[in-house]
Amino acid sequence: MKIAMVGSGYVGLVSGACLAGFGHEVVCIDKDSAKIEKLENGIMPIYEPGLADLVAENVAAGRLSFSRDLPSAIQGASAIFIAVGTPSRRGDGHADLSFVYAVAEEVGRNLKEPAVIVDKSTVPVGTGDEVARILSLSGAPEGTSVVSNPEFLREGAAIGDFKQPDRIVIGAEDDFGREVMAEVYRPLTRNQTAILFTSRRSAEVIKYAGNAFLATKITFINEMADLCEKVGGNVQDVARGIGLDNRIGPKFLHAGPGYGGSCFPKDTLALLKTAEDYESPLRIVEAVVKVNETRKRAMGRKIIEALGGQARGKRVAMLGLTFKPNTDDMRDSPAIAIAQTLADAGAEIVAYDPEGMEEARALLPEVTMAGGAYEAIEGADAIALVTEWDAFRALDLDRVKQLATAPIFVDMRNVYNPDQMKAAGFTYISVGRDS
Ligand code: UGA
Repeated sequence: MKIAMVGSGYVGLVSGACLAGFGHEVVCIDKDSAKIEKLENGIMPIYEPGLADLVAENVAAGRLSFSRDLPSAIQGASAIFIAVGTPSRRGDGHADLSFVYAVAEEVGRNLKEPAVIVDKSTVPVGTGDEVARILSLSGAPEGTSVVSNPEFLREGAAIGDFKQPDRIVIGAEDDFGREVMAEVYRPLTRNQTAILFTSRRSAEVIKYAGNAFLATKITFINEMADLCEKVGGNVQDVARGIGLDNRIGPKFLHAGPGYGGSCFPKDTLALLKTAEDYESPLRIVEAVVKVNETRKRAMGRKIIEALGGQARGKRVAMLGLTFKPNTDDMRDSPAIAIAQTLADAGAEIVAYDPEGMEEARALLPEVTMAGGAYEAIEGADAIALVTEWDAFRALDLDRVKQLATAPIFVDMRNVYNPDQMKAAGFTYISVGRDS
């Protein structure tokens, strides 16, 4: 089957490469000529484990190509995916749909044969209806179908998530849409992956409800961690103790500095805006957003407390800046609020991140970037492990102690064992494990 993927950003590129891997003939389209040129030369615009090899393999097999020319690239495609950004609109938090609508219009103007237009971008409920309206107004052929097919990829694990998903959700209003989408994902149904067919609006809600629920789960365990600190419990034991109940499940119960990234913060806000528009308040999600926002700066204050309540003139080593490991993405990373809180209190910050430093430089001009973890630690009055990159999981603790000015270690991801760290001579502070 021929597939066109409009938008070669994170979602488009991963989805396009994986669909080509299924055996489809895929063209990834983008307006950004520099990006297309890079891709044609095998240079990935983002860091995602396994992506460069997957792209190279499928390009070599002749199943994956790149184009900046939407009008010609979409011709003959049975499915045309829209995978462009839907950032938070400045000022009001609504999802900005201008890119999605611009693609719908351009597709409508140029499409010669009916096709299935698949919304992969994360869009508020009702967007599919508007895309259908725009397509028809701009002259799309009769019979063109609009389908919602939300993505559930995690950065850093996106290829595995695409190839072995828990489920695929397809929101379609007609048989043409359902049939073409069943064909797109046929290779997965061989491994018994569940495909859930719903209405278009239900699929749109599923995407936001899923992310909001996961954000709630994280925020819930984060507050339990705070309680554990007060009452002398261990949040990891609590997470395990509740997670073994199948109705709760063990995943997304790692306490930490608060969720960040390009999805949860933006999607929870957009969902709240939809709720407001329809006068159907989502009070739990509202609380989650507030609690998470407050938490990030509170984590900065946790480091200041570890320094004895005074950060002025003190040097803090931050290990990890990205919102999670295996990505170079700094969007809404808790590290930003943590660094700002420290800087506001007069601390000097030296940081190292395996992939995020380029992005971080622009966002955090007050932070000095080091060439490695030990370089960052040298002369530090406190060390804060902010992102759980593998590179920080097995630090040479003797060396750390020798290099640092004071052996104060704030572990925001509970990577290390408190007893071992204390035995090794550290003042060790973690999340939800200290009384
Ligand atoms: C998230 C969802 O997990 C994907 O299913 C979804 O497709 C994606 O958003 C999206 O909407 O595109 P992602 O943002 O890549 O994926 O990252 P996650 O692994 O979900 O982590 C998000 C944040 O939550 C990170 O800051 C992470 O550190 C934090 N987190 C996650 C915790 O603090 N504790 C946990 O137990 C899990």
